[in-house]
Amino acid sequence: MSEKKRIALVVGARPQFIKIALLVHELNKKGQALLIHTGQHYDYEMSDSFFEQAGIPAPNHNLAVGSGTHGAQTADMLKGLESLFIQEQPDLVIVVGDTNSTLAGALAAIKLHIPIAHIEAGMRNFDRKKPEEINRIITDHITDYFFAPAQNAVQNLKNEGIDRNTFIVGDISNDLFVANIEKAERESNILETLGIEAQDYIVLTIHKSINTDSRANLEAILKAVEQLDIKVVFPAHPRTAKCIQEYGLASYLDADHIVMSGPLPYFDMIRLMKNSQKILTDSGGIQKEALALRKPCITMRKTEWVETLEGGWNIEANIHDRAAFVDLIEHHHPSGEPSNFLGQGDTYQKINDLIWSEILS
Ligand code: UD1
Repeated sequence: MSEKKRIALVVGARPQFIKIALLVHELNKKGQALLIHTGQHYDYEMSDSFFEQAGIPAPNHNLAVGSGTHGAQTADMLKGLESLFIQEQPDLVIVVGDTNSTLAGALAAIKLHIPIAHIEAGMRNFDRKKPEEINRIITDHITDYFFAPAQNAVQNLKNEGIDRNTFIVGDISNDLFVANIEKAERESNILETLGIEAQDYIVLTIHKSINTDSRANLEAILKAVEQLDIKVVFPAHPRTAKCIQEYGLASYLDADHIVMSGPLPYFDMIRLMKNSQKILTDSGGIQKEALALRKPCITMRKTEWVETLEGGWNIEANIHDRAAFVDLIEHHHPSGEPSNFLGQGDTYQKINDLIWSEILS
């Protein structure tokens, strides 16, 4: 009997754990998945709790690179991944999304002539100042197989001269999300823990560098939030919490209508969003989860998930026009039909099938 094909999956940041959760089990039915955690996210709340709740097997390797500047973090991952790939000799490397872990995985693989598949290929927000946009572009230009969420991503790739091995598969993070909405509603006590009522609040998340590395941007957001006439629940990413302290902005969060917490486990976050009125975010994943839940979403940056904008279900805000920003948060309502690009929750199966029929056949 021939040996099973080995497929390395490189993950490192919170949303990537969600994205590979179902795929890793599916790959293991026919092949052998090697799960490699770069260690980009390392706090229990940012990493282990997701592995536990999503039933993800323990990683085969953890590089434990931890925090650092973008260059240092990516370089540490690259070094670690290269020696792991040499040791493990995978037949395919799968990278996901747009983080430094994605870029490092793809770079290490191409230098060793290992085929690369990129999940969420072709996403662009056309803002080259953002680390994620650079990670997306470089990763796609060294990738061999492109799993694109929707037609728009395929078009973006075409516009950059990439016109081969592209497959439209829907949205991979939606798979685990829809599979767990009911379970989260049953098992999470987050509303009771935070002392909030269903439909009585909006959810706020902030963590993208455009909003956290700039004191002016973070202050603009917090000032607007302070003015809101509605309860705001704000689970803060550790870096965002650090920036708020460093910039001396914490007093904006003292208002009675603001409820703060640390990063929440997956099920708590799902239940919190499901019972909210609307969502204010700069996260890519949360924009899609808002759409899946049919919650209006206000995005505090330029989005790469342009499909979410259809029907006004998601809208990009100018955080520096305070009156308009506050008005948008309080009064924006979708006016049309939402996009159905997220798919049926079977993206991981489509990707698995394509891997065995088109890549490792
Ligand atoms: C990364 C991704 C971003 C993604 C996000 C999801 C890049 C360039 N960015 O951003 O696209 O949306 O993950 O969360 O890859 N930290 C902790 N504990 C942790 C993890 C991080 O305290 O478990 C703090 C540290 O101060 C660290 C900082 O967050 O230096 C930045 O973490 P990093 O993984 O570099 O970027 P994110 O902001 O999480």
